[in-house]
Amino acid sequence: MSTVTTASASREHRITLRSLANRKRKAIPFSVLTAYDFTFARIFDEAGVDVLLVGDSLGMVVQGHDTTLPVTLDEIAYHCRAVARGARRAHVVGDMPFMSYQASIEQGMTNAGRLMKEGGCHSVKLEGGAVHAELVRRLVAAGIPVMGHIGLTPQSFHQLGGFKVQGRDAGGRERLLADARTLEEAGAYALVLEAIPADIAAEITAAVSVPTIGIGAGVGCDGQVLVVYDALGMDESFKPRFVRRYATLGATIHDAIGRYVADVRGGRFPSDAEAFTMTESRAAPGAIDPAPYSSAGAKA
Ligand code: KIV
Repeated sequence: MSTVTTASASREHRITLRSLANRKRKAIPFSVLTAYDFTFARIFDEAGVDVLLVGDSLGMVVQGHDTTLPVTLDEIAYHCRAVARGARRAHVVGDMPFMSYQASIEQGMTNAGRLMKEGGCHSVKLEGGAVHAELVRRLVAAGIPVMGHIGLTPQSFHQLGGFKVQGRDAGGRERLLADARTLEEAGAYALVLEAIPADIAAEITAAVSVPTIGIGAGVGCDGQVLVVYDALGMDESFKPRFVRRYATLGATIHDAIGRYVADVRGGRFPSDAEAFTMTESRAAPGAIDPAPYSSAGAKA
């Protein structure tokens, strides 16, 4: 009985497509952040992040590639599973990686289905505009919610000639507006607008009924997204204009690990209090200590 109550209570609090649509209607901006693992997802979820995006940016910040292109569907599914386990309230979005949906509608359907079934995510994101309208339509008809992504689409890195602001050329505004409207009409529930002039992003936000989520697209979007490694300042050398650093964790971690290394080298770690003794053990001779890794075990 209590299990049922708890489960339905947590369902009530889950961020849904409807919650996001309401936020747009009420003009209450929502937060989106990338997440790649369980521990971080749990912290972000508890901190109130509304949407966790398992972005293919993991190819760059987790795997160390120069672009997102090498990321595979299996890798996104793996990270989705970890993030989904940590997200009790946030909506979890799985990013469709390069060439997991571009070859055919059937390929896109199968792979989006895999992210939902194997990754445990609540919706998928795919890059590109009107060219993917039919796929979006089919996915939505199959019950798979789709987040669109236009402007700077990193999977088209080589086509675009690098990570460059989009929509500044003649016709750019019209193309972006047309793509946004077509994706909305196809059934996308939200649109990421990446690296486009703020006034165009605000115009798109006013023109479509679905929420827009900006990254380098100004404050006029319905929500904002950042790559979490950028927001936490993991890489001192990377600070594009659109990123706000909420911490300098790269330096903090470097300092902490430096002190750990020095303590080990200097014989200062572990101390006696951080080690076990025969007399303190409650386990019978030969038995496995019941709680060697719990805090209580350490104190016992
Ligand atoms: O992969 C990613 O992290 C993204 C965001 C930057 C929107 O697509």
